[in-house]
Amino acid sequence: MAISPYLKPGFYEEALSKGRHRDIVGGRWDETGRIQMRMLAEVGVGPTDRFLDIGAGSLRLGCRLVPWLDAGNYWATDASRDLMLRGYELELADKSRLDPARLIEDADFAFPGIPEDIDVALAFAVFTHLPLASLETALHSVRQHFPHLRMLLFTVFLAPDEGFAQSHRQKDGVVTHPDRTPFHFRETDVARLVTKAGFTCEVRPDRLPRGQVLCIARPTA
Ligand SMILES: C[S@@+](CC[C@H](N)C(=O)[O-])C[C@H]1O[C@@H](n2cnc3c(N)ncnc32)[C@H](O)[C@@H]1O
Repeated sequence: MAISPYLKPGFYEEALSKGRHRDIVGGRWDETGRIQMRMLAEVGVGPTDRFLDIGAGSLRLGCRLVPWLDAGNYWATDASRDLMLRGYELELADKSRLDPARLIEDADFAFPGIPEDIDVALAFAVFTHLPLASLETALHSVRQHFPHLRMLLFTVFLAPDEGFAQSHRQKDGVVTHPDRTPFHFRETDVARLVTKAGFTCEVRPDRLPRGQVLCIARPTA
């Protein structure tokens, strides 16, 4: 079994050929997009922020965020540029608000071509599909690439130490695993990696869709 569906050869081509660009980012399109927008406002993101959407998928958030941000303040990466472009074509109402050149294919958290003056970065429901080592890579890379960053927001599934090695049922029913997607992590591991990369770590107590938690990493001085 592949550790993530996104790694299966031909996954994006097949899903996009079947018109499934909403399903492959998890569906619940309107509900999740609205929750993401509310979450950003609650943590103090504003239209003047220069924003990077990491693992942006088919722009479930982007189709709402692009018109809300000041013009020119949205960049996105994803393992599949075709997926982002499908969202651009079908979901973004006013295309004049976003230059598609800002939708950059990047599966390695290398951020090619993303300007260094990003204020806020978000990876929503991305590390729920990747192993802990990917989170570690991304944290270090974000810290290095964006010296003016105010915060990195990301979501994970957590599981308690007891029973961590087994599958775990999250609050709204999703079953997560230690070794395959959807992954769960220990809160202590997440906090350790965030701190090691040069951030402080806040884990929000409330649960997002499917039982994910929001982590806020803020650069230490
Ligand atoms: C569950 S979807 C969430 C998409 C988007 N953040 C949202 O909330 O609508 C996970 C996304 O992560 C992307 N992804 C998976 N592995 C990735 C990687 N190594 N680097 C960047 N994006 C990745 C997938 O292509 C997919 O779009």
